[in-house]
Amino acid sequence: MTRIALIFILFTGFAFLSHGEDGSRLWLRYSSVQVVTPPFACINANKTMLSVQELQHAWKQLTGKILPYTDSEVNNTLIVGLSSDQNIARFTLTDKLNELGDEGYIIRTYRRSGNKITVIASKGKPGLLYGIFHLLRLIQTQSLSDSLDITEQPSYKIRILNHWDNLDGTIERGYAGHSIWKWDELPGTVSPRYREYARANASIGINSVVLNNVNTSPSILSDDYLQKVKILADIFRPYNIKVYLSVNFSSPTILDGLPTSDPFDARVVQWWKNKTTEIYRFIPDFGGFLVKANSEGSPGPQDYGRSHADGANMLADVLKPHEGIVMWRAFVYNPDNEDRAKQAYNEFAPLDGQFRDNVILQVKNGPIDFQPREPFSPLFGKMKKTLVMPELQITQEYLGQANHLVYLAPLWKECLDSDTYCSGKGSTVAKITDGELYNRSISAIAGVANIGEDTDWCGHHFAQANWYAFGRLAWNPSLSSKQIAEEWLRMTFSNDSGFVKPIEKMMIDSREAVVQYMMPLGLHHLFAWEHHYGPEPWCDIPNARPDWLPKYYHQAQENGIGFNRTSTGSNAVEQYCSPLREEFENSHTCPETLLLWFHHLPWNYTMKDGKTLWEELCYCYDKGVKEVRNFQTTWAQAERYVDQERFKQVQSRLAIQAHDAEWWKDACLLYFQQYSKQPIPRDIEQPIYKLNDLMKIKLDMASHN
Ligand code: GCU
Repeated sequence: MTRIALIFILFTGFAFLSHGEDGSRLWLRYSSVQVVTPPFACINANKTMLSVQELQHAWKQLTGKILPYTDSEVNNTLIVGLSSDQNIARFTLTDKLNELGDEGYIIRTYRRSGNKITVIASKGKPGLLYGIFHLLRLIQTQSLSDSLDITEQPSYKIRILNHWDNLDGTIERGYAGHSIWKWDELPGTVSPRYREYARANASIGINSVVLNNVNTSPSILSDDYLQKVKILADIFRPYNIKVYLSVNFSSPTILDGLPTSDPFDARVVQWWKNKTTEIYRFIPDFGGFLVKANSEGSPGPQDYGRSHADGANMLADVLKPHEGIVMWRAFVYNPDNEDRAKQAYNEFAPLDGQFRDNVILQVKNGPIDFQPREPFSPLFGKMKKTLVMPELQITQEYLGQANHLVYLAPLWKECLDSDTYCSGKGSTVAKITDGELYNRSISAIAGVANIGEDTDWCGHHFAQANWYAFGRLAWNPSLSSKQIAEEWLRMTFSNDSGFVKPIEKMMIDSREAVVQYMMPLGLHHLFAWEHHYGPEPWCDIPNARPDWLPKYYHQAQENGIGFNRTSTGSNAVEQYCSPLREEFENSHTCPETLLLWFHHLPWNYTMKDGKTLWEELCYCYDKGVKEVRNFQTTWAQAERYVDQERFKQVQSRLAIQAHDAEWWKDACLLYFQQYSKQPIPRDIEQPIYKLNDLMKIKLDMASHN
């Protein structure tokens, strides 16, 4: 047996252990499909390349056959290679490949003397791997044609997962078990899951990862931990994944006893220089730092009278010689501010233009905090001289966690497709942040990961779709939610249209459903204290920060409900560019989906459909509950297409979701009814719970957080 063959067998041996339909194989199941064309493949590329190995593995799974190699041209040949390979260069336009960069690729079918030859080509190994995964997606979704002409290049340069994983193995807002990073075992013991994780990410184009929580322990920068991080970085590298770390701004003081962590202090700067040099010794392609500073009690430059720009630039300067970057989070708010929604903008807008060119401001999609619906953050439009990246949340902190089926692509697209108007019509969040509009050399998008050690990775089979969708949208934000859902369903479950059509609709409808049964019409943050799972619009914790309490947000009183963010209120509307500002200011032009985000309105306010606001609220909640019941029926009808293991898990979760939807509806309507003093319309289901009983519910969610 040659050495190459041995490597291949070892690779397949540990990376693709045999699994039932327990969700562990994600969308990479490669279950046999009718492979139309090419009927067989021959590889004229280096057999040791990861991309080629993936193709080999897939082919075996899909067809039961070994992929034959040959060095000569044969009919219906699939040729895989880098542009410098002779075989590839003969078929492809090398200039075009150069333009596409290391991650771009071409898949094209050529006709030569009556024969068809399919070529996957790239300038770089990453592009080739992505090209192979693209072809495998076409095969798996039965979309392969015999005249392919595909040119791909990612929109965002850095497509990054943010793990909120703690060094003790817990995950902040993680709902799929403990962390997959086994810090206690590393560097000695290396879990096979690390490679599977990297492979899954590569299959959807994710090329970067922050390993640790933004609320981070400084220990991550200790020598011990850097040795562990190095092992992960080494495993991820062949999959084109770079490692980044969240850092604690006070690390110099906490780790090494410096008297200060002031970014202007020469000893502090030297400390970061030394630390950075040490990191790059372990990990030569280290990506950089993610920083949560002066936010929710974390340390930061403001502790020393310095600005966010001062802090970020100090770190940027030490990273610059190594080509590293700083991702500086804009998630800041402080309890004395009159409107939390305004604060990030107020703090960062005056700093526009003051950040180094290797600092990128990481901005959550909405101005508050990953709510079921928020308008986009106005910082996206405002920061024209600063690099800005969206932070999306894949883990469903505020969306039913691992119990509710909520497909998040529509939520993310709502933000990415939003027109900020700040650089003229069409200056959408996606175009601003992916670099297209301002021709940026660095562009990035982050997703807070929903991955844990559960066998199915994400805690709910359908939560895998959100990991998948994040990768696909980061690659190309103009893909539709529908297309992504369809791809994922076909690969994860079945190609049968009797399954795909109704379940795809269920996925698309699921985001709006959760908005309706949790907080419709622009309501937000009605969550129970701390765990953010169930409803507690009444929540009152003695001495709690007001902006951590639902009453701050819904402002329900006898005169009405909603947060007045117009010019007669907090004037948050002013942070948006015209004509949005004026549109949001006027309750008659403000989208009804955001009405109570921007307006405090009387219970009898007339909605566009002629109902009163109170009635509309009741019908929205009712609609949300009904939608989930429909999902239950839709899923029941899908039973014959799905293995029992996954069918049952989803079915039981939908039952919980239906229960929770009812809970949300009754809790919110009965609570608000105390102020509206109006009956719940007779043609909707009447509450089944009593407010007093609901107010007594205290979930013990300790094991979930
Ligand atoms: C939310 C979340 C926290 C998290 C924070 C952040 O507030 O509940 O757990 O640390 O966001 O994004 O920094």
